[in-house]
Amino acid sequence: MAMELKRGLTPDDMPTVLAWANSGGEAFLRRFAGPKWRYPLTEEQLAAEAGDIFSIHADGAFVGIIQQVARHGRGVHLGRFLIDPARRGQGLGPRALTLLCRELFGNDDIDAISLNVYLDNAPARRCYEKCGFRVTQVNPEWNNCRMALTRELFKEQTI
Ligand SMILES: CC(C)(COP(=O)(O)OP(=O)(O)OC[C@H]1O[C@@H](n2cnc3c(N)ncnc32)[C@H](O)[C@@H]1OP(=O)(O)O)[C@@H](O)C(=O)NCCC(=O)NCCS
Repeated sequence: MAMELKRGLTPDDMPTVLAWANSGGEAFLRRFAGPKWRYPLTEEQLAAEAGDIFSIHADGAFVGIIQQVARHGRGVHLGRFLIDPARRGQGLGPRALTLLCRELFGNDDIDAISLNVYLDNAPARRCYEKCGFRVTQVNPEWNNCRMALTRELFKEQTI
């Protein structure tokens, strides 16, 4: 399967992302996007951050998004990872994330990639583990943990 990441969202992508993001109600939006985006997600909220969002394409079809949320020193923090609800559990998430990590580590200024995930989001944690991410910090008060992938760990994984 041919996976491709494109920076930004086209006007056609926007309603699709809104439908995916709002399909599970307020709790789901918070679960995958954190507290900053307010339910229901709107085109305005999405457009304000679209420059940092990558659209994910599998064999030419738009199947998800992932965002570069922040850059800290030699690290990149990712978030807002969302695969089309009809396409989950097919391995698209790990393949897209691995592709993005490969692109990011292609930049010699980047040594680590991190993301936060709720402790009870088993599919997401499983996906990140498959990509080589490891838990680096647990925050029970927020029910989440931080997972990270170093350049060294990335060399060892095989997806
Ligand atoms: C997290 C997410 C990006 C992973 O992408 P994916 O393409 O579904 O990843 P995978 O195909 O590797 O599936 C991961 C795990 O999900 C579980 N899963 C299987 N079928 C599934 C389905 N239909 N729906 C959801 N999860 C499923 C399995 O445990 C699977 O692990 P396994 O293959 O070892 O059994 C995607 O599931 C998603 O968009 N989830 C909702 C948004 C979210 O929670 N984002 C992460 C925020 S931190």
